[in-house]
Amino acid sequence: MILVTGGAGFIGGNFVLDWLANPAAEGIVNIDKLTYAGNLATLKSLENDGRHVFVHGDIGDYDLALSLLKKYSIRAVLNFAAESHVDRSIHGPGDFIQTNVLGTFNLLEAVRAYWSDLSDLAKKEFRFLHVSTDEVYGSLSPTDPAFSETHPYEPNSPYSASKAASDHLVRAWHHTYDLPVITTNCSNNYGPYHFPEKLIPLVILNALAGKPLPIYGDGQQIRDWLYVKDHCSAIRRVLEAGQLGETYNVGGWNEKPNLDVVHVICGVLDQLRPKAGGIDAENKYASQITYVKDRPGHDRRYAIDATKLECELGWKPAETFETGIQKTVQWYLDNQEWTEGVLSGSYRDWVKKQYN
Ligand code: NAD
Ligand code: DAU
Repeated sequence: MILVTGGAGFIGGNFVLDWLANPAAEGIVNIDKLTYAGNLATLKSLENDGRHVFVHGDIGDYDLALSLLKKYSIRAVLNFAAESHVDRSIHGPGDFIQTNVLGTFNLLEAVRAYWSDLSDLAKKEFRFLHVSTDEVYGSLSPTDPAFSETHPYEPNSPYSASKAASDHLVRAWHHTYDLPVITTNCSNNYGPYHFPEKLIPLVILNALAGKPLPIYGDGQQIRDWLYVKDHCSAIRRVLEAGQLGETYNVGGWNEKPNLDVVHVICGVLDQLRPKAGGIDAENKYASQITYVKDRPGHDRRYAIDATKLECELGWKPAETFETGIQKTVQWYLDNQEWTEGVLSGSYRDWVKKQYN
């Protein structure tokens, strides 16, 4: 079996569903702390699937991780678990250090103890795949080339600093202990099961609810968007064929200013769920766009150069931004039960804190 951490979150959840969609796939042990971002409703379709073992737990729990690795004879660990939202890291960085840095450290130590006792063959085949982000590279000017794997680490937010620290730990555990690790650094994901604190699901759900669509600052910050299922296929490919100790950038060559992204979403909603009362400008979703205070230390531009992954491992994304965003908006329209579950409770407190 493989061990997935954070598999009740957005990307981890999509990964688990995609992996188990293959009837021949190995089973998954899924360890997740179920923070505000973890959601078992995402995994509902696996309720009666014996290939999925869910464990409510913390990656920082060394004993638990070691016992699961032994009990299920794990042959690969995929580490998705993290605190992932930049704005939350600005309000309270402590949880980010706890999970992203100390949690990864404890997980690496449990994996090292387990791996050291494996047979030579099992040792050789074992993998620790660490899922990281392009934010560790810092911010680009408009004319800089996209981030390659050799770009210096220049993290700017508590979130990206904590992810950078975890990447360094993973690298060191390979260099010092020969642990068979690979790291992926991906750009901004979007798609089904995305928690609506992040720009794309927030805009879709606020638009449908008739609420303001908050744009930080001038809205000209650039992100490089990748459909989440393309990120999952990249991770599968890296797990299969990636070189030990290497890092791979994952991205879709889809750089877009935030304001453009929001206009595209509004346009798709105007088509798929037009507001009653005709097509006047004030009746279009874009009329809900509202400029709000900027994020402190806001990174201006991210862009990923995915040449290494494409040329060495033959990976290509299946979706363009246009096809991916259409699918995403449609998914939110079709999955009201999931979104209603998420929008209740503690999410409301977050919205109050962040947007006043
Ligand atoms: P998410 O916040 O949606 O999910 C994180 C999951 O981890 C949740 O289910 C949460 O309950 C779980 N978790 C948190 N702390 C834990 C702990 N101590 N032990 C066990 N589980 C814990 O995050 P996401 O967007 O799915 O991101 C997944 C990974 O991918 C993260 O490592 C993130 O840094 C990375 N990443 C995200 C993006 C993106 O655009 N979302 C892009 C590149 C990389
Ligand atoms: O680049 C990869 C990263 O992408 C991941 O590592 C992070 O886990 C993930 O959260 C994401 O970080 P961002 O900060 O880029 O994503 P977010 O969706 O929060 O914001 C995207 C852009 O939109 C960013 O420039 C801030 C802006 N924004 C965001 C929100 C929530 C707004 O303008 N208004 C908003 O209300």
